[in-house]
Amino acid sequence: MKILEPLALNGITLPNRIAVPAMVTRLSGEDGFVNQPIIDRYVRYAQGNVGLIVVEATAVHSNKSGPLLRLSDDEFIPGHRELVNQVHATSDSKVVPQIIHFLKVARSGWRQTIDSLSPEDIERIIDQFGQAAARARQAGYDGVELHSAHAYTLSSFLSRRNPRRDEYDGRTLEGRLAMFGRVMASVRKHAGSDWTVGVRFLAEEAIKEGYTVEDAKLIALRMAQLGVDYISLSVGGKFEDAVHREGQPLYPYTGYSGDRCMPGDWYPPLPHAHLAASVKQYINAKGYTVPVISAGKISDPDDAERLLQTGQADMIGMARQLLADPDWPKKVAQGRADQIVRCIYCNVCKQLDENFKEVTCFLWPKGVNQAPPDATDGLGPRWPEGGAGLTATVERGIVKLSWKKAEAGASPIAGYNVYRAEDDSAARVTEAVKSAKHTDKMVLGGLRYTYYVRAHDAAGRATPPSDAVRIDFPVPIAEPASPHSEVHHA
Ligand SMILES: Cc1cc2nc3c(=O)[nH]c(=O)nc-3n(C[C@H](O)[C@H](O)[C@H](O)COP(=O)(O)O)c2cc1C
Repeated sequence: MKILEPLALNGITLPNRIAVPAMVTRLSGEDGFVNQPIIDRYVRYAQGNVGLIVVEATAVHSNKSGPLLRLSDDEFIPGHRELVNQVHATSDSKVVPQIIHFLKVARSGWRQTIDSLSPEDIERIIDQFGQAAARARQAGYDGVELHSAHAYTLSSFLSRRNPRRDEYDGRTLEGRLAMFGRVMASVRKHAGSDWTVGVRFLAEEAIKEGYTVEDAKLIALRMAQLGVDYISLSVGGKFEDAVHREGQPLYPYTGYSGDRCMPGDWYPPLPHAHLAASVKQYINAKGYTVPVISAGKISDPDDAERLLQTGQADMIGMARQLLADPDWPKKVAQGRADQIVRCIYCNVCKQLDENFKEVTCFLWPKGVNQAPPDATDGLGPRWPEGGAGLTATVERGIVKLSWKKAEAGASPIAGYNVYRAEDDSAARVTEAVKSAKHTDKMVLGGLRYTYYVRAHDAAGRATPPSDAVRIDFPVPIAEPASPHSEVHHA
């Protein structure tokens, strides 16, 4: 499989084309130091053989914020060095931190914008990026990723809504690109040209009057001209449409652009893959081969492989899926793809992040703060004698399913996947639940649904499919309204 083939960046070779994009863990304290739970989180991805591990957004400066890692001072280097050493001691995974600059936000909902930055402020930020990158190199990281996405400082310069009217003028593309150009030069000056420097930016801002993939293609081309070593694309996550919650600082993933950034279960799979494909094909046509990482609700190994085979991406980024199951690469390589604990995009992880709580996955057993270990020996779960006894009833547009609890093998039952097929199409996981029942409210009369369930343990070992049940219910016929029934007088 192409996804399992190595990929050379600048001075390093990734063991495969699978990346975990940056995901804030909220496992650090407000002091910004690396601690053991953070190291364990990234070592866990290394145990799963994730090719490129991007460590969560790490501040280049010391502005106050909630729990967040920092590289704003030399005192932070030893902790990062320990993280890198433990990741490298675990597997061939490569690891880079995503370095970020953000502006001030207040609980009143006020936020600082880039037009308030003086020329001195700008010089300082450019220098801070360079210094932080140099510290990342000293800590032994395999490279660094510049956070130019979402609601943060570098992204605000790239934005079509950039309000500046000086050399960083938001009315011209070159003006919007000027800050990134200077930051990139500073990073190369401080950290060297023989080291991987990637960038993450938006394929689409997803806000009113924000930029679309047309700008993203040109932005990517400039980044390629500047010598970035990989391009990781995201979407949305902006302050402009964020919804303010009383007494809370603005969280940039609360509006429509936030939905686009971390698309929930009601979004189709791969909602952004076509954007990454456009960007990649555009820069390739201009003669640049900088690898492009595509992300956004990718979890199926066949989908991931197809994106690479058809030239729509060079690498596959999976954030929530690899949080749910960091062993995805290993399981795919070992022909155990059916043991992958599939992300259901419930966004519990996103809610935890928003509330400054430790980011964990709903699919993990209760009370743990790391993904459970893989398991290849011992018994997996099984159905009781006589089978799962799956039953289904339909009532007012709701299908209610229930079944018997599965019996645990070597480790406890972690949950059940509900599979559903519509008419003659292939069955797909429609929901993951912890107890032996499920209600499906997204059914349409006139279609035929077939359901079955599988129980799995925390490592993803599953029972065979239960017996299937089939539901056929007609298109509801609207009752003609009675002229008398509509008027109610008290
Ligand atoms: C809890 C959480 C934290 C995130 N933190 C970051 C971050 O620090 N930097 C970043 O660029 N993206 C961050 N993201 C966005 C993800 O990297 C990714 O782009 C997004 O979740 C869509 O990919 P997915 O569908 O594979 O999860 C975060 C997402 C989640 C769910």
